[in-house]
Amino acid sequence: MRLIFFGPPGVGKGTQAQIVSRKLGIPHISTGDILRNEVKNKTPLGLKAKSYMDEGTLVPDEIIIEMMKNRLSESDCSVGFILDGFPRTLPQAQSLDRMLSELELSLDYAVNFEISEEEIVKRLTNRRVCSKCNSIFNLLIDQLEDNARCPRCGGELYQRSDDRSEVIRRRLEVYHEATRPVLDYYKEKKILLTVDANGSVKEVTNRLLSLLNSSTS
Ligand code: AP5
Repeated sequence: MRLIFFGPPGVGKGTQAQIVSRKLGIPHISTGDILRNEVKNKTPLGLKAKSYMDEGTLVPDEIIIEMMKNRLSESDCSVGFILDGFPRTLPQAQSLDRMLSELELSLDYAVNFEISEEEIVKRLTNRRVCSKCNSIFNLLIDQLEDNARCPRCGGELYQRSDDRSEVIRRRLEVYHEATRPVLDYYKEKKILLTVDANGSVKEVTNRLLSLLNSSTS
């Protein structure tokens, strides 16, 4: 299955993508994770991307499109994929269509996750990520102390530098200006599904899987 997980920052796309990717046996491709890895390794791409990410604005389309062309041509994508955080602009969505048509592939669904902005801010300010295995946690729902280690692998948990309240506000503005219009692109293609992302992680996963099941049967 070839899926896009779409929605505002902090809605829970990455959390659900990690679970569903394991369940369906398809890779989870997060542009945010790829970029953060490049920044960590101080590569030329990472050095270019860092200032945009720190400010909560979008990395330029040409950089992202080139990066995704390379990633989608890797062999693990032959079984399908979940794209998390891409496409985020109309030019990125149009480029994705071109990349897939060159590979003679098409998307199954773009899944849009929805919650209130109040809940988004609560989720993001309490998010912690494992520096070793990339698992995503939340201090409130996972009942972790601020200095806790990763419950899965013992790695160090860190707070993303863009999870500060002023950067969260900017990311939400950027989402409404540049990314939300991409929804209409997939609505017109009749492959848009919408999931209520309120409730526990398990409830959202169950809702999402039953929606995917009923849409494909
Ligand atoms: P990226 O890493 O993609 O960030 P984002 O889209 O802002 O999304 P997030 O990772 O913040 O949220 P999420 O929806 O995955 O939520 P999560 O599951 O972690 O991008 C970062 C930056 O990179 C961008 O700002 C941009 O600069 C650049 N970039 C990336 N892609 C780009 C592109 N295509 N073009 C240009 N620039 C690009 O969950 C959040 C929290 O909520 C966690 O603590 C989690 O535990 C908790 N949670 C999850 N589900 C629930 C639930 N059901 N109940 C309660 N808590 C929950």
